[in-house]
Amino acid sequence: MIKNRVGIGFGTWAWGNKFVWGYKAETDDILLKKTFSDAIEGGLDLVDTADSYGTGKLFGQSETLIGDFLEEFPITKLKKITIATKLAPFPWRIGRNGLKQAFKESNKRLKGNLKRVQLHWSTYRYAPWQEEQLINGLGDLYEDGFIEEIGLSNTGPKRLNFLYQKLKERGIKIKSIQMQFSLLTKPSLADEKIKNVCNENNIEYLAYSPLALGILTVPVNKSPKTSTFIRNQLFRKLLPKTSELRALLGNIGKKYSASQAQVALNWVRSHGAKPIVGIRNPSQAKDAIAALNWTLTKKEKESLDLYREHCPINMPTNPFISP
Ligand SMILES: NC(=O)c1ccc[n+]([C@@H]2O[C@H](COP(=O)([O-])OP(=O)(O)OC[C@H]3O[C@@H](n4cnc5c(N)ncnc54)[C@H](OP(=O)(O)O)[C@@H]3O)[C@@H](O)[C@H]2O)c1
Repeated sequence: MIKNRVGIGFGTWAWGNKFVWGYKAETDDILLKKTFSDAIEGGLDLVDTADSYGTGKLFGQSETLIGDFLEEFPITKLKKITIATKLAPFPWRIGRNGLKQAFKESNKRLKGNLKRVQLHWSTYRYAPWQEEQLINGLGDLYEDGFIEEIGLSNTGPKRLNFLYQKLKERGIKIKSIQMQFSLLTKPSLADEKIKNVCNENNIEYLAYSPLALGILTVPVNKSPKTSTFIRNQLFRKLLPKTSELRALLGNIGKKYSASQAQVALNWVRSHGAKPIVGIRNPSQAKDAIAALNWTLTKKEKESLDLYREHCPINMPTNPFISP
């Protein structure tokens, strides 16, 4: 597995979500701007967003906000961070040029700072003929010098191998793949296979939802109210059956004066993956940065691995994942 040199990415799905569920521009923008700036100044070096974050009238809003925030940073700083988006292979984005216009629009919203374009998911399950066309289209954007890096997302080991080979034939590398990975994702052979492909080919494995949408951060005996109905349902289902695991996170954290979130993020890093954490406020940014200052011992990692294997409940799997 590639050495996890740089640590934690800064995901913004939560923002997209927030736009759908009652976003208040004046107050939220100021808070998000400070959160973003603290995260970048603190050393988080990957910003992950998607053109589909922020739906309906707010489509692309996450990218727009990030683009605005980036205007405050000097070029020297911008050169050190990677701005990555995910383009959704919607059914109307057809053929080799299907993502070209989407790329242009995302890059415009991100004020020309887009460095890595990721295919949000493979169309293999429902439109297999599209898959190769779309990846070749991303290859064209790379060859024409519009993007520096190509990434994948929600792609199982077979499709990862296939897409990797397709680009390799053109001398293009896949930089990263992002999959759901946390102490609450079910251990699977497919995931091991993906990690092997990543190891063999120097592909970065990015872990999304590394805190299981925040469940792993909840202290034992607490059941917080969350911001959305769906998240509330998930918390109600998963919290009661994860108390032992969360107690262990809390105990390990005490030794390092660290939060449960930090322990959960460091468990992800101990698996050679780079967590992309959904940070909502400055104190969460500070916490994610603090997680980079220490690592789990082998024994602590193994005890968490064991809990994961025997955990009676898991996060739902993403239906977009291909074989
Ligand atoms: N490729 C894909 O299909 C895909 C899918 C999902 C996500 N992603 C990416 O992964 C990123 C992160 O995933 P995610 O937001 O789904 O899940 P996550 O990172 O597991 O959880 C995010 C939630 O955890 C809580 N949190 C964060 N830091 C915390 C801290 N230090 N202490 C306590 N609570 C903390 C926040 O909850 P509160 O809001 O309650 O404060 C936040 O909303 C996204 O932003 C996106 O970029 C990609």
